[in-house]
Amino acid sequence: MILDDVLRTPAAIRDAERHTAHNYHPLPVVIATAEGSWVTDIDGRRYLDFLAGYSALNFGHRNPVLTAAAHAQLDRVTLTSRAFVHDQFAEFCSRLAALCGKDQVLPMNTGAEAVETAIKISRKWGYRVKGVPADQATIVVAAGNFHGRTTTIISFSDDPDAHDDFGPYTPGFRIVPYGDLAAMAEAIDETTVAVLIEPIQGEQGVVVPPDGYLPGVRALCTDQNVLFVADEIQSGLGRTGDTFACDHESVVPDVYILGKALGGGIVPVSAIAANSDVLGVIKPGQHGSTFGGNPLACAVAIEVVKLLESGTYQARAKENGAYLLAELRTLIGNGLLAVRGRGLWAGIDVDPELMTGREACERLAERGILAKDTHGSTLRLAPPLIIDKDDIDVAVAALRAILK
Ligand SMILES: Cc1ncc(COP(=O)(O)O)c(C=O)c1O
Repeated sequence: MILDDVLRTPAAIRDAERHTAHNYHPLPVVIATAEGSWVTDIDGRRYLDFLAGYSALNFGHRNPVLTAAAHAQLDRVTLTSRAFVHDQFAEFCSRLAALCGKDQVLPMNTGAEAVETAIKISRKWGYRVKGVPADQATIVVAAGNFHGRTTTIISFSDDPDAHDDFGPYTPGFRIVPYGDLAAMAEAIDETTVAVLIEPIQGEQGVVVPPDGYLPGVRALCTDQNVLFVADEIQSGLGRTGDTFACDHESVVPDVYILGKALGGGIVPVSAIAANSDVLGVIKPGQHGSTFGGNPLACAVAIEVVKLLESGTYQARAKENGAYLLAELRTLIGNGLLAVRGRGLWAGIDVDPELMTGREACERLAERGILAKDTHGSTLRLAPPLIIDKDDIDVAVAALRAILK
């Protein structure tokens, strides 16, 4: 009670909940400022950010290169709509296309919009190029997927929270077990226009598919004339130690879906990237967004792509990610049941006999570490890629302490 009188956090949380739909269950932390891998709450307590905006903050909070680009663009022009061309657009599109090794990009804002874009493009490609009969297109997806929250996307989610009570659902999707090539082959037929998967399932708890799965999907798609659509919204842009998670197995999908870190943690920026034989199916008036590809978004995203062109963030994620995963693995049998991951991205299963994932996150927050549970007793750890080994040590020590 005494603390409640002194601290501003409890009242701020009550205020935040008063006029808010409860579609989130945030940890009791009210953030006021942030820099790099650290945030500070309204009571002056500092926390290491091991969620990084679900990987939207790959380059750290307020990365100076990115905030400088945003400030400069705020003083020039922020929004034109795509009714006109602006002077940041060409550079953004050409740099992002080159990063992806593709001819073209189509910019949107949120991840879900980019997934919707990929679904529309795949269907249209299916009708116009592959020759699928009208309205018969099917897309094969994986069990345990997370691709966003729109009504079409949740139609093929097998998570009851995401899915139930939001019908009627969009037809045209077939769900197969993740990592199971035989089931995928079985599900593909002449109506199939695309396979849509996450190269690593983030929301599911950083589930890495078996070696050979992604090349197998690539081969199936090529054999069956089906588009391989990789949702790299969370796994891409350096997180796993390469530019894309698909790179680990030298796999090149037909369509990349990108979001989150593309906006540098400043503005929502998403996009799909593909070659013109695929993206060329879309014509004026058939798809778009008022804010998609706006000057502010492009100015920031140009700098994001430049950061990735240097390769230093990917290298850092690889080196420090290996360190993080090795340190976490020392806790298996000491409160953790399993550790999965690649690069600076880990899913850890806390022994449910000890505590729930939510309780683990609350205890970590008390020790100055921010992380988020996903599905029961699993935690997803995804610090900014700029994190150093000392800060990783701080987080692992806190985890060790709460698991005792
Ligand atoms: C793999 C994946 N796809 C799509 C999305 C949806 O992105 P957004 O929340 O920006 O709509 C997410 C978000 O977590 C994601 O992880």
